[in-house]
Amino acid sequence: MTSIIEPKLHKATDLLLKGEVVAIPTETVYGLAASIESNEGLKKIFALKERPFFDPLIVHVANFKQAATLTTDWLPLADYLARVFWPGPFTIVLPKASHVDPLITSGLDTVAIRYPAHPLAQELIHLVGPLAAPSANKFGHTSPTQPKHVQSEFPGANLLIVDGGTCEVGVESTVVSIDAEHVRILRPGAVTEEMIQAALRKWSHPVAVSRGSSQASPGSLKHHYMPKIPLVIVEPQKTASLAAELRLRIQNETGKPAQNAVELKLNDDPAIAARELYSEMRKISESGADCIYVVNRSDRQGMWSAIWDRLSRAATLDLTDAHSKSPQ
Ligand code: TXA
Ligand code: MG
Repeated sequence: MTSIIEPKLHKATDLLLKGEVVAIPTETVYGLAASIESNEGLKKIFALKERPFFDPLIVHVANFKQAATLTTDWLPLADYLARVFWPGPFTIVLPKASHVDPLITSGLDTVAIRYPAHPLAQELIHLVGPLAAPSANKFGHTSPTQPKHVQSEFPGANLLIVDGGTCEVGVESTVVSIDAEHVRILRPGAVTEEMIQAALRKWSHPVAVSRGSSQASPGSLKHHYMPKIPLVIVEPQKTASLAAELRLRIQNETGKPAQNAVELKLNDDPAIAARELYSEMRKISESGADCIYVVNRSDRQGMWSAIWDRLSRAATLDLTDAHSKSPQ
């Protein structure tokens, strides 16, 4: 194992200031960070992650002033929502300031900004300045919520990991784009649609809230957050006949039959279910199982929305009724 885990920040600060990449904890998932001032560091993020350049990065800040300097239009509505949800798992997409490196924004005219709640992330940003950071996993894989997950994503890399323990939230931040009359949720997260609606009831003007399309968020691909073995979503009443069906379907899909399907059980409390989601996926993947199955639930309210968004993108197969009825 060549990765180093360091709880102190001297070395991380040094490396970031020199244009290197460091893995940092946030309250959502671990990030692979570089200074926004270092074009070299930014390039290293894409190389290490094997991430396509069309997928833009989030800039992490540690105060409102830093946030405002990244955009040409720090809208009163963005300021209001940031004051409600920052620091926290809430990312705001706004028109980009000209000094923001186009590598961060994939050439788009907007930039995604987040003020994370983790104290170690905040301290590093105070020491180095704003940090661009995607989740610290290979492109398309499950995000890491513990330092050892980062190590297993980049076993050969000489990567410094700042150890901030297990991430509290467990799934990536809510991403929204904002204009004066509209909030579009591009990626659901722990700041839920219901929480945004409640905050907007205290705002001076009417604002529409909607779910954005995947084109609006270039990283929202169908196959994302994927574990190393197939993941299947099934209806509760079908679990009895599951073994036979899975063997067949997985055989058709991957060419290999699934003999040892293991259930990923979701906690009834969605905050706990989210916190455990990715580490459970990893645990089952490494347990000798050859398939993960998750039993569908009808609840898509609040935090469940983010959990099912990630599960449906992680799924190789969706055997739920809703899916089989919808056109391909
Ligand atoms: O919780 C999080 O957001 C974590 C931690 C490390 O902060 N970060 C994270 O980054 O999940 P990443 O790169 O894995 O996901 C960022 C998402 C992508 O789907 C990307 O397409 C979207 O944010 N995004 C970034 N800039 C954007 C922009 N200008 N317009 C629309 N979507 C953008
Ligand atoms: Mg990611």
